[in-house]
Amino acid sequence: METIETLLTRRSIRKYKNQKIEKDKIDIILKSAMYAPSAMNMQAWHYVVVDDKNVLNETIKSIPHAELLIQTPAAILVCGDASIEKNESWMIQNCSAAIQNILLAAHGLGLGTCWIAIHGMEEVVKNVSAQFKLPENVIPISLITLGYPDESVTAEDRFRKEKIHYNKW
Ligand SMILES: Cc1cc2nc3c(=O)[nH]c(=O)nc-3n(C[C@H](O)[C@H](O)[C@H](O)COP(=O)(O)O)c2cc1C
Repeated sequence: METIETLLTRRSIRKYKNQKIEKDKIDIILKSAMYAPSAMNMQAWHYVVVDDKNVLNETIKSIPHAELLIQTPAAILVCGDASIEKNESWMIQNCSAAIQNILLAAHGLGLGTCWIAIHGMEEVVKNVSAQFKLPENVIPISLITLGYPDESVTAEDRFRKEKIHYNKW
């Protein structure tokens, strides 16, 4: 898929086919994440691939707003490494860039994704850290669901001229 078409047609997908995702596709998606820009090129991130049904089901207890995991074949937990990137805002920005690469790479490969927020909800961060036994310096930012779409969500026109400002407000 051409780059601009990929980013203009990506939508969140919340229903997935019961179909395994090929390992080489997961690898391309993870590689894409790692090619994201990061502050001072520190690449202070980690990725936990979750493809075990029991672990996915367990994750619903940790992230109560992630009920779609019940029918999701895989997910990627994106974490920041606070021992490498000490500026929390930069850590989140780094991980967000990586997440967007995940969403776009997956879409380009015919896979659907949904970005599930973790960071910013203290209790959820605590739950996820405990469930995945994350080291203290590893901070869960978001969980990205991954699967072959079982719904069709069309692109919408979001271009708003009034949101653009040149040189001053
Ligand atoms: C930081 C962030 C957190 C999000 N958290 C959730 C979430 O918890 N559950 C969910 O279903 N979608 C979540 N989303 C997806 C948004 O709802 C979705 O991106 C938005 O409605 C726009 O739709 P689109 O992704 O189809 O373009 C999140 C998106 C972002 C960027």
